[in-house]
Amino acid sequence: MVKKEHMKILHSSKSMEWETPDYIFNKLNKEFNFTLDPCATKDNAKCDKYYTMEDDGLTKDWSGEIVFINPPYGMYDCRTSLVELWIKKAYEVSQDGTIIVCLIPARTDTLYWHNYIFPYAAQIRFIKRRIKFRRDGVLDSAPFPSAVIVFNQELWQYRVPENSLHHIKQCVSTEFKLGV
Ligand SMILES: C[S@@+](CC[C@H](N)C(=O)[O-])C[C@H]1O[C@@H](n2cnc3c(N)ncnc32)[C@H](O)[C@@H]1O
Repeated sequence: MVKKEHMKILHSSKSMEWETPDYIFNKLNKEFNFTLDPCATKDNAKCDKYYTMEDDGLTKDWSGEIVFINPPYGMYDCRTSLVELWIKKAYEVSQDGTIIVCLIPARTDTLYWHNYIFPYAAQIRFIKRRIKFRRDGVLDSAPFPSAVIVFNQELWQYRVPENSLHHIKQCVSTEFKLGV
């Protein structure tokens, strides 16, 4: 899925490596018990089972896993962000009942939020304050707000008729605290 000519650039791009802080992952992991991190490196993988850029986690089968995604940032091409590709796949895979939790920028104006998250996510958890991500060993405040998206067919029972405005079942404010 990732174009060959982009691999070198993406590898060198520090913007990809917004590592999930432990205090956030651990709290979510307590709740979900994740089994797969499909976008990782050997060093930042959050689960024993993970895929790296060389594996190309986007092309792998995630069905039946409990998936945690903090997707790579940056652009796939001049119109499509990498986050969009991962959210589209998360939505598609979740249709068979696979539970997928995504930590992404709260860019609520983007098409992928409107095409895949607002209509199909079971929960959107808007995170209070900015996350401090680890990049190159340094904790740095994100220049964007973040949200946790939960795709879970069992929770998402309320379906709206075709062509009507979509509704979200649960939309909440959440807070992660260092050391908690
Ligand atoms: C934002 S970081 C998150 C890393 C880690 N999973 C975490 O939560 O801290 C995104 C990761 O996706 C990796 N990545 C980029 N493209 C990928 C691909 N096609 N398949 C698998 N991993 C990829 C990057 O190397 C980077 O480590």
